[in-house]
Amino acid sequence: MDDAPTPTDRRLSPIVRLAPAKLNLTLAVLGRRADGYHDLHSVMVPLALSDRLSVAPAHGPADTLGVSGRSAGPESGNLVLQAFSAARNALRGQIDAVPLAARLEKHIPVAAGLGGGSSDAVAALDGAFEVWGADSHLDPVQRAAIRIDLAARLGSDVPFFLTGRAATISGRGEVVRVLPPLRGTSPGVLLITPAVAAATASVFTTLDRDPLARPTNSGSARAASEHLAGEWRAGLRADALVVRAGVLASANDLAAAADLVVPGLRALRRSLVRRLGRPVGLSGSGPTLWVLYASWAEAATAAEAVSAGLADGSIVAPGGGGPSIIATTISTPAPLADRSEEEEPR
Ligand code: C5P
Repeated sequence: MDDAPTPTDRRLSPIVRLAPAKLNLTLAVLGRRADGYHDLHSVMVPLALSDRLSVAPAHGPADTLGVSGRSAGPESGNLVLQAFSAARNALRGQIDAVPLAARLEKHIPVAAGLGGGSSDAVAALDGAFEVWGADSHLDPVQRAAIRIDLAARLGSDVPFFLTGRAATISGRGEVVRVLPPLRGTSPGVLLITPAVAAATASVFTTLDRDPLARPTNSGSARAASEHLAGEWRAGLRADALVVRAGVLASANDLAAAADLVVPGLRALRRSLVRRLGRPVGLSGSGPTLWVLYASWAEAATAAEAVSAGLADGSIVAPGGGGPSIIATTISTPAPLADRSEEEEPR
């Protein structure tokens, strides 16, 4: 290959990417499609809560991945390795896509409706491109097209993470329209994730098959989702978003299906509403429940109240262990290029 990069074109030290979680503030299911997926409309935001992925050239002949931290099971890094091999296939013949060694620090609960695996996949694509020095061999338009195509093939939630910004998503998740930054202080978010995985596919199947899973107020999630998107485009303030939490918390068409797939989730939600006196929403297909606050400090205080409620038995969560209770914020990230940091080899 005449245009193969010399070894000096590649990054020899690890590069580090933060992979933020997402929150669905709304989630409307518009209908089932011929390909089995569902058309959606959702307002999604990135959170400060992030996984951390480092990528470097591997010493051996194959890609490797080590996972540590929360939910460090084998499945929790799966999309990272899939992203590496999809990126290598897409760039075959154009660059020398050497094997990669990745380390993933999990902070985002797995299979929880927070998009952790999908976000890790985008961090992996970007990390791989950078280690391979792909940018010097692709023009920006070609690079963007390859990222978009790979993301859509890796999973429905993956395209959202390409921009790192609040967005509306539609189609099955591949149509992403970036929203302007929220004005004012970033809202605090309390996340309560029961220790039970909710497979997205089971929640959608339950929605299709079980009459009890149908939203009682058909069309209201869509109206709330489109209305929020319109207000956001017009320049929504962060405090106005928090005021709308009641409408948003009832604007998830997967909520009843998630309650059926995860017994005890509905009771947990009710007990949180009683304890916190705030609307409690569901992110994606769950089982993570969210509560919005004006600031991180208020969310952190509420986290203590939830821990106390679990200890005194007034809050009961499904699943073997206790739930994860995380106070974070909606993030207003810098442009993608600024989200990486360099580190010395370890
Ligand atoms: O795209 P992804 O593999 O993440 O989706 C997991 C499952 O969720 C799909 O197999 C499908 O059953 C369901 N899904 C859906 N409609 C969407 C997104 C996901 O039915 N828009």
